[in-house]
Amino acid sequence: MRVLLTGSTGRLGGAFLSLWGKDPACELITPTRQELDLSEPEKVRSFLRQAEFDLLVNPAAITNLEECPNNPELTRRVNTDSPQVMAEVCQEKGARLVHFSTDYVFSGEQPGMKTEQDTTEPVNMYGESKLAAERAVMEADESALVCRVSWLFGPTPAGRPYHLDNVLKRAEACEVQDLIADKFAMPTYTHDIVDWVELLLRAQGSGIYHLCNSGEPESWYSSAKNVCELAGKSGYEVDASHLVATSINDAVFFSEKRPVHTTMAPARMMAEGIATPRHWLDAAEAYLKMR
Ligand SMILES: NC(=O)c1ccc[n+]([C@@H]2O[C@H](COP(=O)([O-])OP(=O)(O)OC[C@H]3O[C@@H](n4cnc5c(N)ncnc54)[C@H](OP(=O)(O)O)[C@@H]3O)[C@@H](O)[C@H]2O)c1
Repeated sequence: MRVLLTGSTGRLGGAFLSLWGKDPACELITPTRQELDLSEPEKVRSFLRQAEFDLLVNPAAITNLEECPNNPELTRRVNTDSPQVMAEVCQEKGARLVHFSTDYVFSGEQPGMKTEQDTTEPVNMYGESKLAAERAVMEADESALVCRVSWLFGPTPAGRPYHLDNVLKRAEACEVQDLIADKFAMPTYTHDIVDWVELLLRAQGSGIYHLCNSGEPESWYSSAKNVCELAGKSGYEVDASHLVATSINDAVFFSEKRPVHTTMAPARMMAEGIATPRHWLDAAEAYLKMR
């Protein structure tokens, strides 16, 4: 199968690159940003029309929330218009599209696990651009898979550390860490996401799916505590006594509003018998062993 992968230098794209890059049944095409710049949707269209692929996987996006309102036009082109073009070209060619979205499509006002049926209402420009993409992609190509993911962890591409990696590094150095304890999501392992995408493709899944591990809603603080405890049992020398619980209301470094309760449940994957995602701490344990 010939797979065109965007964003292969990113966190999630890097997981597809490392796992599918080793698969002899998969011919991976990974254009650089210079070759396929999502800020120019009509050039994306020409590139894709000429390229030969059976499957297009699109984790590329502007993911920095603060960057979005500073560059609204660019955000629209990269996060919404280019995914729409991808869906249009896949529809023309009869290729499959896997597009990635986010738990930030939810307002996060109410506690509780969010399923694919829950109402979306983003509270910032990043979430708005991603929700608009979900709709545009599904309208252009109803066979597309739109995978909402949240709060990733896994092997880290250069220069893009995950929250949990930072926590471990700082706990190994016995540093004091202020961590938000009143904003909740589901930590999710990138390698599990790759596995679920394979299962969904095999099952001819289409539409919106929540691709996340299972467990209880976690804050940065609670997940850090859990991971440090797990790391201690796995032979890491970490000191979790310097983790300090703070409030999102004190997070002066966020200029964009963050939704508070966006923990997703992988309801459709489970209901359709596609996968029963493991607990995120079981996935974290697997990651700690191979880290
Ligand atoms: N990380 C999370 O916790 C999280 C949570 C929820 C949802 N998501 C979603 O999951 C997906 C993957 O996120 P991620 O964390 O892996 O992202 P990431 O690490 O920030 O990587 C983004 C990728 O997009 C590429 N990119 C950005 N602008 C581009 C442009 N104009 N043209 C071409 N490529 C461009 C980047 O290339 P360069 O290397 O050239 O910059 C990079 O490869 C995204 O759709 C995101 O919305 C992520």
